[in-house]
Amino acid sequence: MNNQISAAKKDEIRKVADPCTVVIFGASGDLTQRKLMPSLFSLSCEGLLAEQFSVVGVARSEMTDDSFRDQIRAGVEKFARLKPADCDLWDAFSKNMLYHRGNYDDPQTYKDLSKLLAKIDKNVGGACNVLFYLSTPPQLYPIIVKQLGQAGLAQQSDGHWRRIIIEKPFGHDLPSATELNQQVHDVFDEHQVYRIDHYLGKETVQNLLVFRFANAIFEPLWSRNYIDHVQITVAEEVGLGSRAGYYDTAGVMRDMFQNHLLQLLTLVSMEPPAEYDATALRDEKVKVLKAMQRIKPEEVGQYTVRAQYRTYRDEPGVAKGTNTPTFAAVKLFINNWRWRNVPFYLRSGKALGDKMTEINIQFRHVPHLMFPLKPGQQLPPNVLGLCIQPNEGMNLRFETKVPGAGMRTRSVDMNFTYEQDFGKNTLPDAYERLILDALHGDATLFTRSDEIELAWGLVDPILQGWDSEFSPVLAFYESGTWGPGKSDEFMQADGRKWHYACSDC
Ligand code: BG6
Repeated sequence: MNNQISAAKKDEIRKVADPCTVVIFGASGDLTQRKLMPSLFSLSCEGLLAEQFSVVGVARSEMTDDSFRDQIRAGVEKFARLKPADCDLWDAFSKNMLYHRGNYDDPQTYKDLSKLLAKIDKNVGGACNVLFYLSTPPQLYPIIVKQLGQAGLAQQSDGHWRRIIIEKPFGHDLPSATELNQQVHDVFDEHQVYRIDHYLGKETVQNLLVFRFANAIFEPLWSRNYIDHVQITVAEEVGLGSRAGYYDTAGVMRDMFQNHLLQLLTLVSMEPPAEYDATALRDEKVKVLKAMQRIKPEEVGQYTVRAQYRTYRDEPGVAKGTNTPTFAAVKLFINNWRWRNVPFYLRSGKALGDKMTEINIQFRHVPHLMFPLKPGQQLPPNVLGLCIQPNEGMNLRFETKVPGAGMRTRSVDMNFTYEQDFGKNTLPDAYERLILDALHGDATLFTRSDEIELAWGLVDPILQGWDSEFSPVLAFYESGTWGPGKSDEFMQADGRKWHYACSDC
């Protein structure tokens, strides 16, 4: 292992997970290959998994244990933060990696899985604690959960645990999310359920909490008294990729806003939780979601922009003439004491100018300026950029005097980057953090059932509005730009503009 890894390991305060088995449903899929197994291998390299640790991959494809291991190894080589060349644990890790072929709706699959777990427990140990991971198409979630229940696999006994991670999308709208919550709760207690939003596993997203609540200097400014508005941008350079089947029925509002963007919003705006624990933190996020002003379907023209990149309709697999938006901008308000009348502008889209996630806090203008300005001129406001990815860090833009005669000012940046202070490649993948937390039984960075439903409750009326006569016209934008002109006009109408505090745009 290189020096940076060892240093990170030395500083590591996370403890080793319990002996256990992770059962992945959808084991032949892309997520398993790109994220789940690479993350588990990196965790194993970091010494964070118990010796009695196994993985069972469940899927419908015909595969042997060996061909499964080969497939996983290819993914680990390509995508893992720590690869077999960085740590010599591949043989030990892959030895306890088994493949279990079966149909998800066949009770026999689960009877056999039960026997397999008993066998692992006898041979390796640690198979009484089981983390199920649902990484299949979402329509299979209720089927798998029900079958797990009927096979008695969700039952915890003798101090051993059974947990389940459920991938997004969690529902398609509020009624389906509520129904799925009920189906899950028929089998698992809420404390066994981990609904994943991988944005919460990103270091820089967690750093939002540290930034706000471990420093005394920012929080006094963090309200309507000093903040003019907040912008949250989650931009992607890539287009649709090969996910037309899912994406064309989802669109950007379901794919990105209902989860990632609203999660970022809650973390930026919530009150300080008294403790860093799952209940306290999620209670505060829920309070924000409850205080948010719902955009009514008839108001979507005023509060939203929706657009599609020009070549989207040519992508293989999308419906002919589809109106699915690949970009949206939304203005939201939180009706509470801290944020009353402070707009939160959220935007996200595919095929944009760059991959970039940032939160920009624009502060109010100074109440009185003693320096002479030309008539109508205003100094630029201070902007704090919380840079989530890819230039992880933060950036504070403020005014300074230009050297020389007079009192001319110019905006300058003060910034911190993770890379400069902590070195390159020190940020673990979001999935590493989240899977490890689930193995520890820590649900702080997972979404609770009420949170998911409240988020859908905000998104549904917008989607209904977009399907109605009140919808803003679907705008189009060229790939590689920053969205449609309408998005800039949307800000200009409020006398504001989009910031790019973390990048060079
Ligand atoms: C996923 C969305 O949740 O997040 C994808 O389904 C999107 O459409 C992805 O590309 C973005 O994640 P990240 O970590 O690359 O910003």
